[in-house]
Amino acid sequence: MENSRKAFTDLIAKGVAAGSVMKRDEMMFSHKGILYPTTICSPEAFKALESFEARSDDVILAGYPKSGTNWLSQILNDLIAISQKKTLGKEKLEEFPYLEVGDPEKYERMLKLPSPRFMATHLRPENLPTSIFRKKVKILLLVRNPKDVATSFFHFSNGLGILPSYDTWDDFFTDFMSKKVAWGSYFEYLSEWNKYIDKENIMAITYEELKENPALGVKNIAAFFGIPLTEEELQLVVERSSFQSMKKNSEKTHGSFGNVFFRKGGVSDWKNLFSEEQNEKMDKVFEEQVAGTKLGKKLKYDVYCKA
Ligand code: A3P
Repeated sequence: MENSRKAFTDLIAKGVAAGSVMKRDEMMFSHKGILYPTTICSPEAFKALESFEARSDDVILAGYPKSGTNWLSQILNDLIAISQKKTLGKEKLEEFPYLEVGDPEKYERMLKLPSPRFMATHLRPENLPTSIFRKKVKILLLVRNPKDVATSFFHFSNGLGILPSYDTWDDFFTDFMSKKVAWGSYFEYLSEWNKYIDKENIMAITYEELKENPALGVKNIAAFFGIPLTEEELQLVVERSSFQSMKKNSEKTHGSFGNVFFRKGGVSDWKNLFSEEQNEKMDKVFEEQVAGTKLGKKLKYDVYCKA
């Protein structure tokens, strides 16, 4: 195990241990109407987060759970390392990278971290500390098609004991569609973020477009954050962030949970789970709630979510 990722693996291991002795209904708590895992989040940390002071050069990745946030986290950390002329993959992770996850004192410790600080978050924009928007911190917003997100979320819930597990896919689907999963409704997440989409400090990218053309995606992300890249550096970041490379390296980066974080890494696995009725249900909700929005259109639902 690479010691440099201890902040990640230790917190997950602690969460799994906590979850193993919790009753199912204790595993989540509600904060401002949204559910979060008790195993790794707390009302105290949410309170402390409110007064978190962002810096204008923080690098933020926002994405609903299972949208590929571990993938983009590596890309962004590599880009930061390049901007500082450091060797890729060698930096020590000081804090668990998801902003809302961890103990309430974490935000005090983050005051001491050198710039630029990287942080990921699954939070909706209205629940992020206001300083992020006041300081116009650059945010990369990652979105993935809802059918693959739900599929990935189901497997993750059954693979990692920080979340309640499910006997059947049908049970999970029902909860996913009725906001009973961690970090709340996917559809509301998209609708809320859509309100911010035209802000100059926000760039949206889809999992599917990055999968289709990783070099172009990485190039655009680097340009958005103002990080110049040589062709060689670009190729290195792309190669290091391929699903195969990340899965191969996952025991070092994510410990014994590597296989849970890096499962299939593809598009359309939902076809193995969704029934006709579930397809119709999700198509309808997508149409009603997000299809007409900019973010909804960006997802190319007809290409990635219609059989
Ligand atoms: P699957 O479960 O469909 O395989 P997150 O990191 O936000 O938890 O998202 C996890 C999803 O991203 C998983 O999807 C995982 O396999 C996928 N993923 C992780 N690294 C990836 C990579 N380098 N390329 C493509 N997909 C990746």
